[in-house]
Amino acid sequence: MGIETSAGNIKREKGNSELAKNKNQVQDPSSNTRVNTSNRGKKTRRRLPKKGLVVSPVQTLYDTCKDVFTFGGIGVIPSPESIEKLRTVLDGIKAADFDVSPDMPFFRNSSTRRTQAIGYLHIYECDKFSIGIFCLPPSGVIPLHNHPGMTVFSKLLFGTMHIKSYDWVVEKPSDAVKHPEIQESEVQQPEVQELEVKQSEVEQSEPKKTKVQQPGVRLAKVKVDSDFTAPCNTSILYPADGGNMHCFTALTACAVLDVLGPPYNDSEGRHCTYYLDFPYANFSVDGLSVPVEERDSHAWLQEREKPEDLAFIGELYKGPKILE
Ligand SMILES: [Fe+2]
Repeated sequence: MGIETSAGNIKREKGNSELAKNKNQVQDPSSNTRVNTSNRGKKTRRRLPKKGLVVSPVQTLYDTCKDVFTFGGIGVIPSPESIEKLRTVLDGIKAADFDVSPDMPFFRNSSTRRTQAIGYLHIYECDKFSIGIFCLPPSGVIPLHNHPGMTVFSKLLFGTMHIKSYDWVVEKPSDAVKHPEIQESEVQQPEVQELEVKQSEVEQSEPKKTKVQQPGVRLAKVKVDSDFTAPCNTSILYPADGGNMHCFTALTACAVLDVLGPPYNDSEGRHCTYYLDFPYANFSVDGLSVPVEERDSHAWLQEREKPEDLAFIGELYKGPKILE
């Protein structure tokens, strides 16, 4: 998942959640990753648990993230080995490891709010990665949003949730030239109401195609559109695939553990963008067409402001502490 804490008006606890900025990074042009010239020394200085002390799963998660995202940055995907390493840790982790359970108050519906507020347990954040848990009451929704340049690991800790996700269609489908179906009627910037009318037309008859030149509309392909019930596997999304834009709808109280690498950061251009999604039949864009049998798995995404009724509430994490 991965809503940036700033956009969600979530207060962060500073101090132990920030690592010192590394001033010794140089670019390795051959690998497109950063090489940390002082990292070796840093690694050996890491404090280790005392002999005989049991390491908590939360500590193991932190230690693994620290290794996996050592050379992280926007658009930098960890190696396949690193991804499997973190996936294995997440697959084995449980809600109880964080002292989180469905009977906590922030998993209950609010009788005073029209939409359900989403709780966020901030566990850790540095400039390389963040760890947190989204707490959704029944019918809570995290609207469609993106994760620019990030690799995101999500683990449903408990509950049942509907997930719909998309990736951008970067290249024009190969049959676009073979099946030119665009008519030449122009429309102005369409409003949502107009789109709904057009959709009813689509359901009754052959879609009435309109040529839309609208910068805010971009074609995306559905990656996931299913219900998930914990326990289930860790899901992973990448900068350009795996369902980088997603929407979560809680069917029951849900807890979702989110690991972002790197985290959202407005000052570095990684801000959270929200979208509306419209059926493929609602628009046509000149020169872009999708085969009939694939149209149900495509949609147009349009940027929107953060929904006014969307509220994230920072909750106090009381689980096992992380030793940095
Ligand atoms: Fe997300």
